[in-house]
Amino acid sequence: MAFSTSIPHGGILVNRENHSAEALKQAEQLPALTVSDWSISDLELIGIGGFSPLTGFMGKQDYETVVENMRLSNGLIWSIPITLPVTEEEAERFDTGETLALKGVDGVIYGTLTLEEKYTVDKEREARLVYGTIAPAHPGVKRLYENGDVYLAGPVTLLNRPNHDEFAAYYKDPKETRALFASLGWKTIVGFQTRNPVHRAHEYIQKSALEIVDGLLLNPLVGETKSDDIPADIRMESYEVILKHYYPKDRVRLVIYPAAMRYAGPREAILHALVRKNYGCTHFIVGRDHAGVGDYYGTYEAQELISTVEQELGITILKFEHAFYCAKCGNMATTKTCPHGKEDHIHLSGTKVREMLRAGQKPPKEFSRPEVAEVLIKGMKVHN
Ligand code: ADX
Repeated sequence: MAFSTSIPHGGILVNRENHSAEALKQAEQLPALTVSDWSISDLELIGIGGFSPLTGFMGKQDYETVVENMRLSNGLIWSIPITLPVTEEEAERFDTGETLALKGVDGVIYGTLTLEEKYTVDKEREARLVYGTIAPAHPGVKRLYENGDVYLAGPVTLLNRPNHDEFAAYYKDPKETRALFASLGWKTIVGFQTRNPVHRAHEYIQKSALEIVDGLLLNPLVGETKSDDIPADIRMESYEVILKHYYPKDRVRLVIYPAAMRYAGPREAILHALVRKNYGCTHFIVGRDHAGVGDYYGTYEAQELISTVEQELGITILKFEHAFYCAKCGNMATTKTCPHGKEDHIHLSGTKVREMLRAGQKPPKEFSRPEVAEVLIKGMKVHN
């Protein structure tokens, strides 16, 4: 099924923001809870409607149906629980019915939560069902185990948006991206999620998609990632460079996606698609090992899982096979288009590429545009 207009998930684009001085003043009088950057990013995405139809952190009922069946309790597809974990001591400080101020680790009040429920969960079960593994070495599972044992739930209000520092120029909320697409006259828009610099394979699948839709939303995730991923500030510079040199200006927009990376592979691919639908995309790319890490997921497992719910997503999924440069073809290809063997294909693992960049070596131009490699090498020097 092809979707040509993008209706927000659940029908209405949520907005849970109140930026009035009055609301902030009131929040200063409330009992305060300091939460992680990760939770502030979830609060932000709920507030600006990226996580529509969610209006707050999930209660037990939604949590259960999401973990078990990838659905909210009203039956709507949702693949990853959005919860606010706290320690038992923190949970004891608050009563249900109370409204609390949510502070970041920087001491800023970002929002409020009206506490409707506190509950504990079986984290190993959550890990198994959501991440497909209980291994503490998995970065998403590790995070889950480190989090507090009690989940606080209830509706939230976003009082202050995190400022996103140097990326502010690329910040747009879902209402703004929708308005942007309309002003550009784009009717079909493909969303592209990435936590990496744009390499030739990414470029190939994005441009293949651009052959059939009006525009591309390059929507890199800039929230928390694991420590060996390339930092967002370096990546942003690399996106600017590749767009400048290799993409038609009027057919691409770069907007940050301020979420934390879960590395939940197949389940996260579904979340990524739903969120891009909220941002106004009609199409979404799922390539090889989407949102994967290590060997936890099969190459096409994300595509397989998303296919089971595709009819209900409200966004068209463009699935791409593993893309590579073929020396014999002299271009980018996949096994769908190239008759040659592996020996002619240029394959480099992410780890290998990062090693090369750290050593100041440019990966081959068949793998990475030289302008991008330069930015990455320079950036890695500064960060090392
Ligand atoms: S992700 O964790 O954000 O998904 P990544 O930046 O690696 O990471 O991938 C962005 C998108 O490009 C995902 O949809 C992924 O499946 C796809 N992708 C990455 N590399 C390739 C490749 N070589 N061939 C086809 N698709 C790819």
